Amino acid sequence: MAGVEISDLGEQYSFGSRVSGVTWDNIHDEGLRGDLQRLFIDRGLIVFQDMEPSPRMQVEVSKIFGPLKDHPTKSTPRADPSLDPGIIDMHRLPQEDTGRIHGQTELNGKMVVSFIPWHFDHSYNDELNYAGVLRSVIKAPVDGRTGFADGIEIYKALDPAIAEKIADLSAIYTLDTRISSMRFGRNFTTSWDSENQAGLIAEAAIFPRAIHPMIWQRPTGEKVAHFCGFSAVGIEGHEDAEGEAIFEEALQDMYRKVNPYWHDWQPTDMVIWDNHRMLHAVEGCDPKYERQMHRTTIKGDYGLGRFEGGKKIGEVNRAVPPLRLPEVA
Ligand SMILES: [Fe+2]
Repeated sequence: MAGVEISDLGEQYSFGSRVSGVTWDNIHDEGLRGDLQRLFIDRGLIVFQDMEPSPRMQVEVSKIFGPLKDHPTKSTPRADPSLDPGIIDMHRLPQEDTGRIHGQTELNGKMVVSFIPWHFDHSYNDELNYAGVLRSVIKAPVDGRTGFADGIEIYKALDPAIAEKIADLSAIYTLDTRISSMRFGRNFTTSWDSENQAGLIAEAAIFPRAIHPMIWQRPTGEKVAHFCGFSAVGIEGHEDAEGEAIFEEALQDMYRKVNPYWHDWQPTDMVIWDNHRMLHAVEGCDPKYERQMHRTTIKGDYGLGRFEGGKKIGEVNRAVPPLRLPEVA
């Protein structure tokens, strides 16, 4: 397609591509859409550059890769209520230095907000989303980057003995997504809860635990390391000292081997990542900075997650009204 340029993310990565030149004039071209869909399956991450920085364009780019998935609760802030299903608005205002430490994490000797360790989205659910498209509306002037790492690359880099141990194991995840309560893979010093977490804690106590394989094989044949400490409570059928040691050993090996791409946001960037394959993280930023991200969610499940006890999401919805699924990016 004339005007569209595609290049690899970088020599040091076996994943990711950069694409520029997608505009309203060509975004509905079937040939281009097919090329981008195949590129995404192959590379797992696309950094769209020089895009029109609007919610409408973000929705149109997202729809190239599949139908959008609306958020299950209407109370989650939307970027533009006229766009349905909409864009999730994640907006953190500057935190004045009043001595409060709500929602902050001590990381490498610094206090930061918006830090999120390596994770995949909706781990606490039986169904994953296929992808998300992120855009930075207000970026922190320093730090606040989003990191992406490829599960295919991680699998190949894992210690073979560890990969063999976890080959047929599944991890258990809960709705308790507080950084402060992470039990495994705590790659930070200390974290303090955000305010108003009582609702989340109450729901997490009765929400069924979700189970996802630690390694899975794509239809295209590649094996993917797909596990995280964030929201995890252990290994299915192995909630004992030995299972905990295996989980921590696997996470620490993943942290050693991970080859992250840290995206430093430009206002005209949009980034899509394959949530079945990639892990992502946020490095955090100084509490004095404002930070606003917009995210779409694209439907499509890998079909390997489930709730403990065979529960279905419909039953969960009825049991826990209103369902509140936390969003992080
Ligand atoms: Fe996320």
